[in-house]
Amino acid sequence: MDQLSEVRLEHASLPGTTCTVAMQGATIKSWQVMNNEMLFVSKQAKMEMGKKALRGGIPICFPQFGPGAMKQHGFARLVKWGMPKVPTVDQSTGDVTAEFVLMASEFTKEMWDYEFVAIYRVKLQAFALATQLEIKNVGDKPFDFTALLHTYLPIDGIAHATVQGLKGSTYVDKLDNSKEELERNDPVKICGPVDRIYRDVKNDIVIGDSGNSHIVIMRSGFPDIVLWNPWIEKSKQMDDFGDEEYKGMVCVEAGAVSTPITLAPGAEWCGKQGLNLVIPQNI
Ligand code: BG6
Repeated sequence: MDQLSEVRLEHASLPGTTCTVAMQGATIKSWQVMNNEMLFVSKQAKMEMGKKALRGGIPICFPQFGPGAMKQHGFARLVKWGMPKVPTVDQSTGDVTAEFVLMASEFTKEMWDYEFVAIYRVKLQAFALATQLEIKNVGDKPFDFTALLHTYLPIDGIAHATVQGLKGSTYVDKLDNSKEELERNDPVKICGPVDRIYRDVKNDIVIGDSGNSHIVIMRSGFPDIVLWNPWIEKSKQMDDFGDEEYKGMVCVEAGAVSTPITLAPGAEWCGKQGLNLVIPQNI
């Protein structure tokens, strides 16, 4: 399985329900439910091993979210992960689970000199995509890290985008000198560039557009939510993103980023995210 560049999971009970995971970064690049794509990927995305992450899907940011001592968003999204076992099928539900593993290498140690094991479990369910990121410290010194699932969701016109569940949380506005603000809106709408870190968000997050269905993000171990839309100027600056594509996406990113996680030797941490497609019964 070392030669694989990607893995495609097919749900055994719900036709047209699939998930494709690139070995680079264990990046989920497609999640389809009954042949409908649930994730946004830029038409100009150009993923390159060791250099460039996918502009879309669900890249994993680890061990650093954002800029800092190492490359932006860390190395996990840039390097090849392994898949030690063949994916398994739950015969009673048809759910399919795959497990991806990343361990320290010369490349990672140049940026972050620690021994770790990262395990990412991806479970394709009938109307949900459940992911779980585990980080273990297998070295002899403690380390700190931040981690985030950088989920890109498609929107059928940004003016229709609604993000519910953030009201009452404090956010750091990265576009306004990291000023802290209290979110008073529910839903939050996107009318300009947005790059915010909402701290310690208790609620599930519900993302909708003009359609009837919506996505509910459920989490554990990922207390923070980053909301990002590059809008007009930033879109023009990105070489792997179309000038107009900001109108059709929003990133709602579950993370443990405002307070780094510390792991002593032998300790482990786990963060979970469930993306659930909810289709109202009356349609
Ligand atoms: C978001 C950050 O998570 O990712 C933004 O909050 C950043 O500041 C965006 O611009 C995209 O990052 P990148 O490295 O994938 O271009």
